[in-house]
Amino acid sequence: VTDQPPGYDVMAAEYARVLPDTFQTPLERGAVDTFTAHVRATDLGPTIVDVGCGVGHVAAYLAAAGFSVAAVDPSAGMLHQARLAYPDLAFIRDDASLRSVDLGAAAGVIARYSLIHLAPDRVRETLRDWAARLRPGTVILLAGQSTDEPGIAPFDHAVAPAWRWHPDAIARALSDAGFEERWRTVSRPSGGYSRFPEFHVCATLIDG
Ligand SMILES: C[S@@+](CC[C@H](N)C(=O)[O-])C[C@H]1O[C@@H](n2cnc3c(N)ncnc32)[C@H](O)[C@@H]1O
Repeated sequence: VTDQPPGYDVMAAEYARVLPDTFQTPLERGAVDTFTAHVRATDLGPTIVDVGCGVGHVAAYLAAAGFSVAAVDPSAGMLHQARLAYPDLAFIRDDASLRSVDLGAAAGVIARYSLIHLAPDRVRETLRDWAARLRPGTVILLAGQSTDEPGIAPFDHAVAPAWRWHPDAIARALSDAGFEERWRTVSRPSGGYSRFPEFHVCATLIDG
């Protein structure tokens, strides 16, 4: 595991305590449910890779919905919390390079608020690498903090260095890697831990 912000190890128990819910808003749940509906509509099987699964809430939600989940996170502390909460689920210690995951078996990839911790060029490189290893038709859902200004901006994330992406910028990174956008959402800050707009972008890997 090479890309591992140490902050998450230190903060893992606190993170689990202050964010006990799977979703912070109905829109987040709706985005994940719509993504899973797209995954079901492929004939690529039941496997979803959850990249940067954190304390495991969404991985458990997907498993309860009948998917076979490869839940990956580089932080031993976050994985410890995930295993405490969901002892029946398998969690994998890896970063977004997903070297220990067979991406060719995936029908869906979800990365919620985890690629925000990769430098922008690394995000682009990572998406291209995933595209080379995934099957056409695979559905991807990315979520992260956003900005109304064009482009990408670093921000003072509480735990680790992070970048906010304008929805057009993250959509462009996906299309440059070979994914075709299906839809996007942008939500406005809703108080609490939500200081910024947030995007969800859902896309499908196209042929060739
Ligand atoms: C804000 S949490 C989000 C957790 C979960 N995806 C969710 O939606 O609740 C960010 C997670 O990204 C993970 N992360 C940080 N750097 C990463 C990297 N290079 N590759 C994959 N995950 C990473 C952290 O360890 C942390 O668990």
